[in-house]
Amino acid sequence: MGNVFVLDHPLIQHKLTYIRKKDTGTKEFRELVDEVAGLMAFEITRDLPVEEKTIETPVTTAVTKTLSGKKIGLVPILRAGLGMVDGVLRLIPAAKVGHVGLYRDPETLQPVEYYIKLPSDIEERELIVIDPMLATGGSANDAIASLKKRGATNIKLMCLIAAPEGVDLIKKEHPDVDIYLGALDEKLNEKGYIVPGLGDAGDRLFGTK
Ligand code: PRP
Ligand code: URA
Repeated sequence: MGNVFVLDHPLIQHKLTYIRKKDTGTKEFRELVDEVAGLMAFEITRDLPVEEKTIETPVTTAVTKTLSGKKIGLVPILRAGLGMVDGVLRLIPAAKVGHVGLYRDPETLQPVEYYIKLPSDIEERELIVIDPMLATGGSANDAIASLKKRGATNIKLMCLIAAPEGVDLIKKEHPDVDIYLGALDEKLNEKGYIVPGLGDAGDRLFGTK
C-alpha cells in the first residue's frame, strides 16, 4: 500500500507560507517553489540505494558510499509541474525528464491530456511525478495511469499541497504509489480549488490569468 508523507520540515513550512500568500509576486513565488522542490527532493531520495566504494583521501584509504546507479526519471505535469523541476534536478542532475501535458477542464474538472514525451526506458526508472497541486487528483491519476500504460512500474508522486480528495483518489487508484506532500490542506471548494491552498499554481508561476 502506498504511503503518504507530509514533509513538515520547518524550512518547507516557512517557505510554503510565503508561497500561499496572495500578495507574493511571480518572481518570489517561482523562486520559493523551486527552493521547496529541492528540499522535498532531499527527503524523497532518502531510500535511494548506495554501494560501497574504496577511495583514497589525502590521509588514508577509506570505504565510503556512492549512489548505486539507480536510474531516476522526473515527470512534471505541464504546466505547473515545470516550476518544481529545476529544484529537484539540482540534487539529482543525472535524472532524465519526461513531460505529461494535462489541463483541467474548468467546467468538468476532468483532465485533458494534450502532450506526452518520456525517456525511452521508463520501465527501468524510478519515476517521480511532479505537480504542485493535488486537488481532485484527476490530473495526477491520469498522468500515473499513462505512465503505467507505457510500462512504468516504480512511481512516486510529489506535490506541494494536496486536498484529502486527491490523496484518497490516488490511494484508491494507485495503491503502489508513495505520495510526498509539503502540506495536506483542509478541502476543495466548489470550483475545485484547494482550501486554503495557494490559488492557481500555473498562473502564479507564469504570471498569467
Ligand atoms: C492544475 C495543477 C494540477 C491540477 C490539479 O493544473 O497544476 O495539474 O490543476 O487539479 P486536479 O487534481 O483537480 O486534477 P491546471 O489544469 O490548472 O493546468 P496548468 O498547470 O496548465 O495551469
Ligand atoms: N489547481 C491549482 O492550480 N490550484 C488548485 O487549488 C487546484 C487545482
